[in-house]
Amino acid sequence: MPPSTQSAHPNRSGEPEPPTPADTGRDQTRAGDNQLDPDRLDQVRAQAAVAIAAAADLDALAVARTAHVDGRAAPLVLARRALGSLPQADRAAAGRRHNEVAESVRALYDARLAELTAERDARVLVEERVDVTLPGGRRTHGARHPITALSDRLVDVFVAMGYEVAEGPEVEHDWFNFEALNLGPDHPARSSHDTLYVDPVGSGLLLRTHTSPVQIRTLLARPLPVYVVCPGRTYRNDAVDATHSPVFGQLEGLAVDEGITMADLRGTLDVFAQALFGSGLSTRLRPSYFPFTEPSAELDVACFACRGEAARQPCRVCCDEGWIEVGGCGMVDPNVLVACGVDPARYSGFAFGMGLERAAMIRHDVREIRDFVDGDVRFGRPFGTGS
Ligand code: DAH
Repeated sequence: MPPSTQSAHPNRSGEPEPPTPADTGRDQTRAGDNQLDPDRLDQVRAQAAVAIAAAADLDALAVARTAHVDGRAAPLVLARRALGSLPQADRAAAGRRHNEVAESVRALYDARLAELTAERDARVLVEERVDVTLPGGRRTHGARHPITALSDRLVDVFVAMGYEVAEGPEVEHDWFNFEALNLGPDHPARSSHDTLYVDPVGSGLLLRTHTSPVQIRTLLARPLPVYVVCPGRTYRNDAVDATHSPVFGQLEGLAVDEGITMADLRGTLDVFAQALFGSGLSTRLRPSYFPFTEPSAELDVACFACRGEAARQPCRVCCDEGWIEVGGCGMVDPNVLVACGVDPARYSGFAFGMGLERAAMIRHDVREIRDFVDGDVRFGRPFGTGS
């Protein structure tokens, strides 16, 4: 029993006198008699004290409060109401007695409330304890595919230089994919494209082997000058191995304007190469051949791992070359301009194209092109894909 019960109702000998259920019944029958009688009020106080002390939790205390403290049928409330029916002369003394009892009951209630609240708070602290040192549940939200991410990043570089994005169909017509690009039907370079043709035979439809046909579509559709960057998926009938896949991404660029020179190409590719592999890396153009550019060149970037120092130290990234081949480029062949109705006497242009997987493989030291499509979570995790 809490101490509050002990002090609730000392009788004349000073012993606490908890009321019995029998008392309670009798009290109720006497309720109408003289509810403000001192003995009666003492009993009311004692009963309240017992009920309040017996309340084992906050819910039970709320019930005791209604019954004994301030509920509509609580004896103390009824007694207060009975004050009004006392003769005027008795009212002040009875009121004081009632107040004193009501205040002491309220104090008992408040004390028990504080006790039980503290108990509850202590229990909640234990029961709802959270071990913040436990590892949290890991939720991965997914990410863009590394090839998409690289493509977007490079496109952004060109958009920042004022280029527009152009796209074309993956099922393309021979004329756009080859002929307009200066690769006539018997051109020997066609064979290097390992083209996948689309039924019916003779329809002229194929899966585009590069993104260069988007150059043609752009020159035919857009007013000059034209500055476009064209990312997209391309297809070739290649057997799968560590560095070849029949489906791969390319990024194409085309600028056609008055007075475009190879110096513009060089400067543009410098910006592009540094965005791809890091600042401060030099580029070089190596003479090459593409049917749609003249002159044509391969674009090499100084190896970002050895920074061109391969001659002095072995380098796995560039195989001791000091340079990494990134793509092809050149000045748009006048035949291409003519095929698109552009006057080569007035306009000139440059173009470039590169493989996205190859660039990503070099950039992230990926050894197997298949890793980009296999879906192995161990591969995807560093890129934020996979769980
Ligand atoms: N289309 C070429 C290929 O797939 C790459 C290329 C080379 C694109 C030179 C160009 C370029 O625009 O000028 O191999």
